[in-house]
Amino acid sequence: MVAYKSKAVERIRLPDRDERERALEEAGYNVFSLAADDVYIDLLTDSGTGAMSDEQWAALHRGDESYAGSPSFERLESAVEDVMGFPHVIPAHQGRGAENVLYGSLLSEGDVVPNNTHFDTTRAHVANQGAEAVDCPTEGAHDLRAEEPFKGNFSVERAREAVSEVGAENVPLVISTITNNSTAGQPVSIENTRRVRAFADEIDATFVIDACRFAENAFFVREREDEYAETSVADIAREQLEYADAAVMSGKKDGLANTGGFVATRDDALFERCRSRAILYEGFPTYGGMAGRDIEAMAVGLREAVTDAYIEDRIEQVRTLASMLEDADVPIYTPAGGHAVYLDAGSFYPHLDSSEFPGQVLVCELYREGGVRGVELGSFAFPDSDRPELVRLAIPRRTYHQEHFEHVLETVESAYENRDAVDGLRLATEPEIPELRHFTAELEPVTN
Ligand code: F0G
Repeated sequence: MVAYKSKAVERIRLPDRDERERALEEAGYNVFSLAADDVYIDLLTDSGTGAMSDEQWAALHRGDESYAGSPSFERLESAVEDVMGFPHVIPAHQGRGAENVLYGSLLSEGDVVPNNTHFDTTRAHVANQGAEAVDCPTEGAHDLRAEEPFKGNFSVERAREAVSEVGAENVPLVISTITNNSTAGQPVSIENTRRVRAFADEIDATFVIDACRFAENAFFVREREDEYAETSVADIAREQLEYADAAVMSGKKDGLANTGGFVATRDDALFERCRSRAILYEGFPTYGGMAGRDIEAMAVGLREAVTDAYIEDRIEQVRTLASMLEDADVPIYTPAGGHAVYLDAGSFYPHLDSSEFPGQVLVCELYREGGVRGVELGSFAFPDSDRPELVRLAIPRRTYHQEHFEHVLETVESAYENRDAVDGLRLATEPEIPELRHFTAELEPVTN
């Protein structure tokens, strides 16, 4: 079933092959440095890149820009309470701003933080407080073909090992990221969420859900967790978040907005602490670095995100692309997650060593072949890690259609056909912070 038609359109253009080759070279073989106008189909991220609904555009006009006490903030408060069940909300300019507010209020030097898998900015904010991020993915999370329903789950067993090493007094916070972005957008079950809640109680820790893609996660719960087969996505989303003391949110994902984020909590003392820190880093707590109009768009987006029409259309798009690729025998991570299809670059290029960045080679090939931009999540983005060599094709919300996906399929297929003919890449410049090198580093072909 089709859920949308277009009301505004944006012109896109495919530069010719020579232009693409030149653009790639000038970008130092790093697609973060490409001009977006030179990209035909942009699957770099699903964050802030979606199309807003007519209702969201209409809400922008209601935006009230008062420094304090804006009615736009009140509308956000009621949307967060209705959709997510939290009585307190502190807006932030985007997800990482909210992470700074929340994790800066909860952590101190020497603490240890278990998370199913830390997203990059989460890991960086934990480190920024002098704390250590420990990933606790479930068994099989890195098995690209395991047909498990909840490969995003949090391994309480692994977290328990971390606690037994450092002592519960050094683990004040436990995070579950739903869906698990760094594990191919895989979902987390409610049964697992209940176990994490019990574990947090056992060690007297605060339980935070990174809720960036909470609506996508709820869709998978309804589909795969028997107990919830007859429950609405909206009710599932609320129930899952009920287990947490607080949530950290990027409105750029399941807030269906182009910018914004927030911390939400049911803990009065934590709310007070976060509010003070928010004033320092984000702004007065009724706007938190956002314009009133953007708060309005996010409040409407949150409500839309848990409607069946939206979420079914959303997941269907991701699945359509995944099954087109599978039918063409292209190796991908399965089952597909909620926001992206992840290509298995290691299987494309078994002749390339991880030091030659097979994932980044594939990212460059996709641009070269069809002007498609994806992102590397392998040895280039995560130096010294044993993660699989993946390339993420993130699907912006309500933005692309079947014809776009057909072009992506053709592009990936021709990259796959040419797979034996490509050479590796090496670093030409090495930025100061290795964890962030994939955003700015320049590369060059090893044959140069
Ligand atoms: N947490 C998760 C799980 C995320 O995926 C992101 C962003 C953030 C926090 C930070 O939110 O961007 O609003 O500051 N992920 C984007 C991505 C950037 O491409 O996956 P932000």
